Amino acid sequence: MSAEKRAESGFEVKPVYGPADVRDGLADRVGEPGGYPFTRGVYPTMYTRRPWTMRQYAGFGTATESNARYHQLIRAGTTGLSVAFDLPTQMGYDSDEPVAHGEVGKVGVAIDSIEDMRRLFAGIPLGEVSTSMTINAPAAVLLLLYQLVAEEQGVDPATLTGTIQNDVLKEYIARGTYIYPPAHSLRLITDIFAYCRTELPRWNTISISGYHMAEAGATPAQEIAFTLANGVEYVRAAIDAGLRVDDFAPRLAFFFVSRTSLLEEVAKFRAARRIWARLMREEFGATNPKSWTLRFHTQTAGVQLTAQQPEVNMVRVTVQAIAAVLGGTQSLHTNSYDEAIALPTEKAARLALRTQQVLANETDLTSTVDPFAGSYAVEAMTDEVERAVVELMGKVEDRGGAVAAIEQGFQKGEIERTAYQNALDIDSGDRVVVGLNRYTVDTEEPYEPLRVDPDIERTQSRRLAELRAERDGEAVRVALAELREAASGRENVLPPMRKALAARATVGEVCHCLREVWGRYTPSDVF
Ligand code: 3HC
Repeated sequence: MSAEKRAESGFEVKPVYGPADVRDGLADRVGEPGGYPFTRGVYPTMYTRRPWTMRQYAGFGTATESNARYHQLIRAGTTGLSVAFDLPTQMGYDSDEPVAHGEVGKVGVAIDSIEDMRRLFAGIPLGEVSTSMTINAPAAVLLLLYQLVAEEQGVDPATLTGTIQNDVLKEYIARGTYIYPPAHSLRLITDIFAYCRTELPRWNTISISGYHMAEAGATPAQEIAFTLANGVEYVRAAIDAGLRVDDFAPRLAFFFVSRTSLLEEVAKFRAARRIWARLMREEFGATNPKSWTLRFHTQTAGVQLTAQQPEVNMVRVTVQAIAAVLGGTQSLHTNSYDEAIALPTEKAARLALRTQQVLANETDLTSTVDPFAGSYAVEAMTDEVERAVVELMGKVEDRGGAVAAIEQGFQKGEIERTAYQNALDIDSGDRVVVGLNRYTVDTEEPYEPLRVDPDIERTQSRRLAELRAERDGEAVRVALAELREAASGRENVLPPMRKALAARATVGEVCHCLREVWGRYTPSDVF
């Protein structure tokens, strides 16, 4: 008898599933594609009408260097843009601040002002693409810079499409690119919801993310539970801020990982849609079906990539991408095979995109919707993941909701325990990683990494000095004073923020202005 197999989420995986493993009432639990509870997908036709968006996360060095990569990706056939920002930008600092030294342009593109934003999208018609921006604490700043540049191109803001990640709660749990204390972060996020409802109605205002918690070690059930619990916190905060649920919920979006454990990942995505639909309709009383739908982006699992025999990663990414597609993702990023070593080369990035193009054009995965529906195994797994997620969300609620649980260190503690056990299993060989702890080679082949502008800090500092010399300093000072005034009261901070950015205030100046009023978050010692 083979040893019992356990799913990543902890439940037993049976060697054979049959009719007895699927609880009664399946038809109601599964529903129809594009109909409540959306287990089978958020649209009636899904990929039979339009494939998922092929949206490759990219950005490094100066805005000019990243702009060149976006043009390469567009030429290669990408159907959505996705901006990676460097850490100074993600943390609300300018490239010439001492704290930024060594990080400028490193894990993403350096954006200091409207001038950098113009360079980033030079030659790209923003009225014809949807752009995701992975930015959280300074999300409002980068959104407004994007809107200002789009308006300079003549784009009607009412038609502008894209997404800002804008999900600071998960930053307190994993990743760490937060600035302000939770209450002020939630205020800024709900100000963005209110602003977009009137100014940018087609913009997805938040991408509530499980990816980073998964990459930090969360199981599929933890990933979904902690992400949806964060989603509940955002919905409550928006309602408390006076917004009606159907006025903002249709533009909430999500972001998850896709691992090589394909069957459980498909079950995870199907369970997540069902739980969110029930929460939005039953708990929050949303009446617009678009408020019930969990639309999500997926990125293949970065932590499952190996630096050893990196070409093996192409196989992993393909399996992970198939899991995301069978799970009904709306948008997908496939990792480049060399990302465990360095920034992806152009060829590796193109191959990652080609992987998606093969799935969309050479397989039958776009021929029918949710092909696993009715599968004894996947339906049983969907029920198991749903049960584990609901139980874990209950534990977060018992602690007072996501923010209270974060301040108690609950989510972080749960994830760290899982990550530690994972590491032990890899070290012991119980968890096989091909090329790392089994099927290894004696010598690795040489690899030539991508090189970015070595003088980027000087380049950005020079540009900032020129900008500050040329702009109307008094106009910037007045605009920042108005922003400070709005932040001190209850007025929406985005309109004065937009005025300051249009006057060429920098990302750092705007974020420091809010730091002066709201302070900075320092984790409780419980962390
Ligand atoms: N039937 C009817 N309509 C359909 C359809 C179908 N089958 N398929 C698509 N459509 C419509 C949609 O309704 C939509 O129209 P609308 O905007 O008017 O509603 C349009 O076609 C586009 O479809 P989607 O909205 O489904 O697809 P998008 O790609 O535009 O949006 C999203 C997907 C998940 C909602 C959005 O939030 C998104 O693009 N997210 C991306 C997030 C992202 O890229 N994050 C990167 C993170 S990287 C990171 O965090 C750091 C790193 O370390 C991991």
